[in-house]
Amino acid sequence: MAMPTEAARLPRHIAVIMDGNGRWAERRGSIRSVGHRAGAKAVQTAIEFCLERGIGCLTLFAFSSENWRRPEEEVGTLMKLFLRMLESEIEELHRRGVRIGFIGQRSDFPAEIREKMDWAERLTAGNDTLRLNIAGSYGGRWDIVNACRRLLAANDGAPLRAEQVTEESLGGFMALADQPEPDLLIRTGGDCRISNFLLWQMAYTEFWFTPVLWPDIDRAVLQQALDDYAGRERRFGLISAQVRGESA
Ligand code: FPP
Repeated sequence: MAMPTEAARLPRHIAVIMDGNGRWAERRGSIRSVGHRAGAKAVQTAIEFCLERGIGCLTLFAFSSENWRRPEEEVGTLMKLFLRMLESEIEELHRRGVRIGFIGQRSDFPAEIREKMDWAERLTAGNDTLRLNIAGSYGGRWDIVNACRRLLAANDGAPLRAEQVTEESLGGFMALADQPEPDLLIRTGGDCRISNFLLWQMAYTEFWFTPVLWPDIDRAVLQQALDDYAGRERRFGLISAQVRGESA
């Protein structure tokens, strides 16, 4: 029986829904922003872990299309936190060879943040230790609609024939099209749902849920997710024997 190699058991791409910052703070009698600040520290832990383990791509759901509807004060805190992280972390990530990218509706963000996002992408464009993708003002449905619009626009204004719309042609315009699809989704905070994250890209992703709140994430929890993933059989619509190379 062909056993998967160690490398095959390691996800090439991990996507994360970092949930539970607000509850983490509330349980300590603090305001929600305290949880987001602690969440930002946990982001560093996750990046470190991926660098150590040789994970190729990490995609973090930092702010959804729907999060703009949160109380103004919380949105303001998150924007300040993004800006501060962009100012304080990017150069160190660059030194460590991380390539940073942002997905989502960038025009929704204030100019100051947009400029920092553009700068971070330009600065780190040649790096290759880890692709770090930050989803901001991102929604899976937004991504699909955006890809449709881009596909239409790419046809130079000529009407698109139905047969020109294929998984490949549309998929080429989805966010992260130049990276392997996520092998593993980690969601913290106890809820077991996808919350409009990478709807197209996660068709065959393995999901791993934990009640641990995002600010409490550590290497041991992340390792548990990797261990669980390593034990799963990914069939991609085939049967077990085909996956094991036992039948055609
Ligand atoms: C979800 O927890 C978390 C967010 C909406 C924000 C995530 C932001 C960070 C971790 C900090 C900055 C990160 C980057 C990458 C710049 P929640 O507020 O929904 O928690 P709750 O479910 O307990 O209310």
